[in-house]
Amino acid sequence: MNATVDLSEASNARRQAACGALPAMADATPSDSLEARAPQVPAYLREIYHWAYLNPRSVRFFDSELIVSLILWGNHRRLRHAAFAELRPGQSVLQSACVYGDFSPRLARHLGPEGRLEVIDVAPIQVDGCRHKLRDFPQAVVQHTDAAQLHKERYDVACCYFLLHELPSDSRHAVVDALLESVVPGGKVVFVDYHKPHWAHPLKPVMSLVFDTLEPFAKDLWDNEVSHYGGESDEFVWRKETYFGGLYQKVVAEKKAEPA
Ligand SMILES: C[S@@+](CC[C@H](N)C(=O)[O-])C[C@H]1O[C@@H](n2cnc3c(N)ncnc32)[C@H](O)[C@@H]1O
Repeated sequence: MNATVDLSEASNARRQAACGALPAMADATPSDSLEARAPQVPAYLREIYHWAYLNPRSVRFFDSELIVSLILWGNHRRLRHAAFAELRPGQSVLQSACVYGDFSPRLARHLGPEGRLEVIDVAPIQVDGCRHKLRDFPQAVVQHTDAAQLHKERYDVACCYFLLHELPSDSRHAVVDALLESVVPGGKVVFVDYHKPHWAHPLKPVMSLVFDTLEPFAKDLWDNEVSHYGGESDEFVWRKETYFGGLYQKVVAEKKAEPA
């Protein structure tokens, strides 16, 4: 699968639209306090995913390898392995949102002491939890940042694990654009997320019900390729693999190296 990405004016416009809920950032000046410049929790997170990511009791309950494995029907290890297979020790990596369980410490260990891991999340409670998990890894930092509003930093790889399906369309476009822009030439963005399963998949009706009930934006990923959210240009080469009867996918966008 080859597709192209336009990261210029259209992507900036999309990002601004997606971040309409961030007035504090829009008006920020260099003299503003860190607190004033911190991103606000987006409306979709407050209104749809509060129960999963913002409520302290839920965070304590969900933040375990066992729960993540159950939610992913036993595929978490395999999918994490598929993501890590794209990353080499010593690389600089952006993880675009916190993940429950041991994902980040394992990633920091995988990158090794010569590597660098920056985890971001837009929810302060998630940032605190992840900082605690990564306290023994000097190569890792956790920042309170919106994945649609990245800074100028560039990474070898950006890793986006089960974030896209939770985002409304404008935010999804903005996050994909920002991640594509965040990697160096020759680098890549790794997306692992839901995918439309085979029509005869026994779990398709179950997942359909779960999405209709709890995850209203997830089915967009059944209908659209991840590359669709990155616009059109010839800067990237895209590849995709699916897992578990097509219920999950890994999509890798490789940024072409600059000509010598
Ligand atoms: C990575 S996703 C889902 C991961 C997976 N279901 C798990 O096991 O944790 C959940 C995280 O994304 C974060 N998040 C949502 N929107 C975000 C955004 N625009 N920027 C950064 N983090 C975001 C949430 O705060 C939450 O911590």
